[in-house]
Amino acid sequence: MSSMPADQSAVTVTVLGLGPMGRALAGAFLDAGVRTTVWNRTPGRDRELVERGAHGAGSAAQAVAASGVTVVCVVNYDAADGILRDEAVTAALKGRTVVNLTADTPTRARSTADWAAAHGIRYLDGAIMTATPSIGKPDAVFLHSGPEDLYQEVRPVLDALGGSHTHLGTDIGRAAAYDIALLDVFWTAMVGYVHALAVARAEGITARELAPFAQGISTILPPLFAEWADDVDSGSFSGEGNPITSTVSTMAHVIETAESHGIEAGVMRAAEGQVRRVIARGHGTDGYTRVAELLGGKA
Ligand SMILES: NC(=O)c1ccc[n+]([C@@H]2O[C@H](COP(=O)([O-])OP(=O)(O)OC[C@H]3O[C@@H](n4cnc5c(N)ncnc54)[C@H](OP(=O)(O)O)[C@@H]3O)[C@@H](O)[C@H]2O)c1
Repeated sequence: MSSMPADQSAVTVTVLGLGPMGRALAGAFLDAGVRTTVWNRTPGRDRELVERGAHGAGSAAQAVAASGVTVVCVVNYDAADGILRDEAVTAALKGRTVVNLTADTPTRARSTADWAAAHGIRYLDGAIMTATPSIGKPDAVFLHSGPEDLYQEVRPVLDALGGSHTHLGTDIGRAAAYDIALLDVFWTAMVGYVHALAVARAEGITARELAPFAQGISTILPPLFAEWADDVDSGSFSGEGNPITSTVSTMAHVIETAESHGIEAGVMRAAEGQVRRVIARGHGTDGYTRVAELLGGKA
């Protein structure tokens, strides 16, 4: 997994942002023997890391000056830009590398990359797709985008974080674009789950009673993700075995039951409305994937 050089003390890294994820990243660097400098807007969050051997910098500018590579992991790009665009920090970063693992939109990633280029700062963007306990372990998932040669250069530093690292291409916004699409999958699924728990509860079914069956539903999703991806990329939108006219009927049952208990069903109503529009356009024998075309978006 790791391609860390033999002398790991030769590798230095700075971590800006010591929320739960920043602390996990810094901790993984320390565990891998990387000389690690840390800084956080609110003082005191570095205490445990310093006890473990990290250098606690007095300012963000001092922190970035301590290492060739700075990893940024704060709440969003407003916060990241606020730190990086400080005059002293920008000056200290000139000629150095920033790996921004803060989550935000592709547009924000591109705009910060433009700013970095204009100030002589080497810049990679990334997204972390797994929770803090995974960091430093094999199941961590990191996505990266930006210049390929820079990615290869910092790869030994990134490898200290464990898990898998995938370079998605030179378009700096690509990691954020994957992140957004995957968050869309995740949150829509969780929106469905909490709604299901409310409907089940209204029917006298506890969350614990439903959970094993909900887990059963989740196991049928991975093959469907692959099958539907083929359908969408090929434009076949196959409804064989499950036409969208059948889909709309089951959605209507969910809405009727939820609303009969006074539970709002706005999300499912929106989904049902999309399906009805597909049918109205004459695609009633197609599969649910036809909705992706209805929703539009350029490839
Ligand atoms: N936690 C996870 O499991 C997870 C998983 C995947 C991705 N991520 C991503 O990782 C990033 C960091 O997440 P997190 O879990 O550490 O918690 P978070 O609450 O998203 O971020 C907390 C960090 O942001 C800093 N911050 C907030 N506003 C700031 C500002 N205006 N200026 C400077 N710093 C500011 C905080 O500093 P203070 O201490 O001073 O408030 C702290 O260091 C996020 O983009 C998140 O989406 C997290």
